[in-house]
Amino acid sequence: MPDRTQTIAYPSPGSRPSRRDPEPLAPHVIVLFGATGDLAKRKLLPGLAYLQQSKFAPDVRIIGSATEDLTADEFRERAKQAVETYGTHRMSDEEWAQFASRLDYVSVSAGAEALAETVHRAEELLGAGVCRLHYLSVPPKAAQAVIAMLRDAKLVERARVVMEKPFGDDLASAIKLNDFVHETFDEAQVFRIDHFLGKEAALNILAFRFANGLFEPIWNRNFIDHVQIDIPEELGLDQRATFYEPTGAFKDMVVTHLMQVMSFVAMEPPTALEPRAISEEKNKVFRSMLPIQPTDVVRGQYAGYRAEDGVAPDSDTETFIALKVEIDNWRWAGVPFFLRTGKRMAQGQRIISIAFKEAPRTMFGVGSGVGSEGPDHLTFDLADSSRVSLSFYGKRPGPGMRLEKLSMQFSTQETKSAGDVLEAYERLILDAMRGDHTLFTTAEGIESLWDRSALLLEDPPPVKPYQPGTWGPNAIHQLIAPRAWRLPFEREWREKKS
Ligand code: BG6
Repeated sequence: MPDRTQTIAYPSPGSRPSRRDPEPLAPHVIVLFGATGDLAKRKLLPGLAYLQQSKFAPDVRIIGSATEDLTADEFRERAKQAVETYGTHRMSDEEWAQFASRLDYVSVSAGAEALAETVHRAEELLGAGVCRLHYLSVPPKAAQAVIAMLRDAKLVERARVVMEKPFGDDLASAIKLNDFVHETFDEAQVFRIDHFLGKEAALNILAFRFANGLFEPIWNRNFIDHVQIDIPEELGLDQRATFYEPTGAFKDMVVTHLMQVMSFVAMEPPTALEPRAISEEKNKVFRSMLPIQPTDVVRGQYAGYRAEDGVAPDSDTETFIALKVEIDNWRWAGVPFFLRTGKRMAQGQRIISIAFKEAPRTMFGVGSGVGSEGPDHLTFDLADSSRVSLSFYGKRPGPGMRLEKLSMQFSTQETKSAGDVLEAYERLILDAMRGDHTLFTTAEGIESLWDRSALLLEDPPPVKPYQPGTWGPNAIHQLIAPRAWRLPFEREWREKKS
């Protein structure tokens, strides 16, 4: 059984990856499987182009691979379109030509030998000490075939492999998949990507909690009433029925993104901001989760979903889910975490909201307004502008003692370094090349989450219909009562006046 905990760093033996002293990266051959797919088009190719342009990336050569038979030039043309359509940074003709000259393509159907030849050719162009990064942007079945092909092509040495969710769809399948992967790659070579953890704002949760003396002392059940992690999307299926129908909101979003973000909110201070220490704390959170009870879950399906292309007319797939999660440890026992996400909802938002316990009110008298707008909140917005807000009661100017809700707000956009923000995939690809597992999910973490989800998966409550453009089925209010959902916000975020 390969060691699941060891970290490896190529090429210099003994150098442990650390985010404190990023070493210059070795040259890399990146093999992008699923290179003509949606994620590659929207995120990976534009991200790789920007990494190259920004000089964050080492010397790389990128080999696209997919089922389609394309020439290298045809692939370059597709990559160009993708970068022009979805890239967030403009590239000059010269920068594009530089990037394009590093692209090559080999069809999956050409087989292991052709793949190996193409990789070796790219390696020769890069010189000595080259590492390999195999990015598997493909569905799970195809991922297994790719892993077998990498093994046959003998491309396992000096390699790391990035895998996309879903990482199984229950405990048994996750164990099977992990075992299959471990037959070829050590756990230390495997990077299970969760792009939410690569978002600047998610990392800011760690900075906020552990670099300041202000909040950590009250970050527990004595002061916090409950937590909400709320990620509604306006977006619908977006032609992803084949993926979404067997997946649904719980597996697509909750087990991956929402619970991963939850672990950042709930973890104990790690001994260091290092992969092993952080993974251990995250895994402890997952192990402390109580099994999710089906009665604590609301599943919804938007009206019209069953008529979408590729969706079964009697589909039971949830396009919405809200649930209560409990973490039974000394810090969090009795503090519910409410998670919600769904498609075709009223707004696209990504917020984490910490609700503090309320103060005694008697000194403020009836009608003073104290408590009338809910408890004090600390809110993190995981959107690209990465905002944080602290709301509190303050005195309304004028005679008497009337209270109203005020807030202090911060946005990354207001800082001088706002332009340095990396897109989540860009950051995570760099981290994977560096061998830094901090923001990636471990086999153990995934297996614990599936284990805690078993009751729900065995006996999911029936899906309730909701109208597109709403906040989900009515039952969401009972789920959280006597508390209330923070969204929609009563007050908008303040935009900085220019
Ligand atoms: C993906 C899910 O992982 O995350 C999608 O498969 C979802 O269904 C997306 O829309 C949301 O991510 P982001 O970063 O666009 O908010």
